[in-house]
Amino acid sequence: MEITVIHGSPRKSGNTHTATKLFMDALCRCGEVTFTEFYLPEAMPHFCRGCMTCVLEGEDKCPHATYTLPILNAMLRADALIFTTPVYVMSEAGTMKTFLDHFPYLYIVHRARKEMFSEKAFILCTTLGAGTKTAIKTIATSLRFWGVNRVYSTGFALHEVHWNKINPKRRAKIERKIDKKALFFYRQTALKKRRRPYLFLYFIVLFLRRMIAGYDDTSLDKQYWVEQGWLRQNPFRS
Ligand SMILES: Cc1cc2nc3c(=O)[nH]c(=O)nc-3n(C[C@H](O)[C@H](O)[C@H](O)COP(=O)(O)O)c2cc1C
Repeated sequence: MEITVIHGSPRKSGNTHTATKLFMDALCRCGEVTFTEFYLPEAMPHFCRGCMTCVLEGEDKCPHATYTLPILNAMLRADALIFTTPVYVMSEAGTMKTFLDHFPYLYIVHRARKEMFSEKAFILCTTLGAGTKTAIKTIATSLRFWGVNRVYSTGFALHEVHWNKINPKRRAKIERKIDKKALFFYRQTALKKRRRPYLFLYFIVLFLRRMIAGYDDTSLDKQYWVEQGWLRQNPFRS
């Protein structure tokens, strides 16, 4: 099983990385897993410029394509995706938002990729006290609009800045939860079963087909939808 991991924080001694590594170790105990890892912000050190070139002219024309394309390819190759982030001011880390800002063209309204329609994703988030819900929601929203088949998540309010200072009993409980979540995620991915798409996607596509059919033929999004046969058939049926 191939999994691409997007680490939202470069802090390898941090809580998020510690929890992520425990999750990855637990996945490896379930079966054979290979990971392709990207650490933010190094893997995407620039803010999106807002030029819309990726959407209008193609993802290869993005001024940051040397960063985005290898990550895109790794995400498309994978069976599953893992996204991690600490909570910063009640939301995801800016690194993760900057990363997501580079992939608007993957939204179903533009040029979602079929490869993702059977992929599972897991979002792991840590915080001192609060904010995991909001942080996870932002990431999950993008992944769902990309058409990722199922998005799972877990958030940990640790009440400690340093992992090894967490009360041992509580830490053991967290570690058990990580193991449980990893086993579940492994099983869901190993099944290689494309589950029913999220309902909102199914309906949104009915509307999009009409909208995109009305675009000018020079539109990249329309050309893509025509090529994929999505103006005739629901993308999630094929
Ligand atoms: C800039 C910054 C903002 C933070 N904002 C919050 C916050 O809003 N709520 C909270 O409970 N913890 C907050 N924290 C604490 C972190 O979310 C928490 O310590 C997390 O586990 C850090 O992960 P890391 O060790 O991987 O960096 C913040 C930490 C930093 C550095």
